[in-house]
Amino acid sequence: MDSNKIPFLDLVTPHRELKEEFVAVFEHALETAGFVGGPMVEDFEQTFARYCDTQHCVGVGSGTDALRFALIAAGVKQGDVVVTVPNTFVATTAAITQAGARPDFVDVDERTYNLDPVKLREYLEVQCSVDGSTGRLVNKRLGMPVAAVVPVHLYGQPADMDPIFELAGRYNLIVIEDACQAHGAEYFSRKGNRWEKAGSMGCAAAFSFYPGKNLGACGEAGAVTTGDAELAQKVRVLRDHGQARKYYHEREGYNGRLDSIQAGILRIKLRHLTAWNARRRECACRYQELLGSAHEGIKLPYEPSWAKAVYHLYVVRVQNRDRLQKHLAEANIGTGIHYPIPLHLQEAYRHLGYRKGDFPVSEEVAAEILSLPMYPGLAYVQQERIAQQVLDFVDGETSSGTSSSPSARVAGLAGQNG
Ligand SMILES: Cc1ncc(COP(=O)(O)O)c(C=O)c1O
Repeated sequence: MDSNKIPFLDLVTPHRELKEEFVAVFEHALETAGFVGGPMVEDFEQTFARYCDTQHCVGVGSGTDALRFALIAAGVKQGDVVVTVPNTFVATTAAITQAGARPDFVDVDERTYNLDPVKLREYLEVQCSVDGSTGRLVNKRLGMPVAAVVPVHLYGQPADMDPIFELAGRYNLIVIEDACQAHGAEYFSRKGNRWEKAGSMGCAAAFSFYPGKNLGACGEAGAVTTGDAELAQKVRVLRDHGQARKYYHEREGYNGRLDSIQAGILRIKLRHLTAWNARRRECACRYQELLGSAHEGIKLPYEPSWAKAVYHLYVVRVQNRDRLQKHLAEANIGTGIHYPIPLHLQEAYRHLGYRKGDFPVSEEVAAEILSLPMYPGLAYVQQERIAQQVLDFVDGETSSGTSSSPSARVAGLAGQNG
């Protein structure tokens, strides 16, 4: 790797360090011809369930599979509405559609970028009403029953689950966590007076082990976690062509199994996840120290007292985001944008009829966010170089007054750094 270049993500170094162990997994699979399912999958499932403080884990082919299977197994049906946020990866809503439901959106909180419980309450109270004959909550505009909520623990930070559960309980809604970016994140439940792990709170949760995730496979993989044995069994059947017993199909299912080589690799990496997450939190702290002086003109991630984020991504917010990205690219620093277009404005959802302005926080955030390099091996000197470049840019922007309305924007952003 060019020593001058700071990549957005370094996936090479950790794999190089663990290469011998990975090769042993591959050799074992070759020698036993155990490629799909089997002991390596079961071992990983049991260990990951324990890691998430929950009873069951079912390994599947991807995070999208995990979400789709969790929704179907939890009882979401054709023609239901499932509520989520517009600022997530498209797989969240694709899985909802694939489960036969229609995604609908509630905007996010200005500071955490996660589902805003106040807006969820407004949505449920104002846009929905209880159908007298079925007793189900119905979205008045769509004329369809609302079955579930999918909070996304975006960037590795848990959504504020207490008020979400309170509303879900009141309206009889299923809660499925999209924990695809949040392996190991923790939420302090004020109601339960204890810390809870992402993946242990909802009726079920979905994890992605896409290579770049905090716990990533060397290919595609995912998992459903749940405390509900019956739901776990339904997911096992769904992932395996609808069969619990070979060639006896209870229903049509999917080819969504976790392969054993990926499970073996994930099992090895899982031993390091706590340390890797701790390193990510250290890196986030360092960014906070290094960039804190630029409180005018940059908004840093906000971590509420009830959250322990695992910083899958470290996302800052600036005006002229595209210019900052270019500035950093010229300094050989990789960045990303997660995500540039909120889902309600994507071409894929044009038929749902949303318009610009429907979810203003998500729209504003999408125009200003930039993900800085973040991975366990990121060195302090690299962070210093990144921070220096960011500060130079922000200073230049502030003093040149090139921004559309600098003082108003800066005032709007100042004081929100957590
Ligand atoms: C929030 C979120 N949901 C769902 C997914 C889908 O996971 P996968 O790519 O493993 O299908 C991802 C993965 O990128 C994600 O970040």
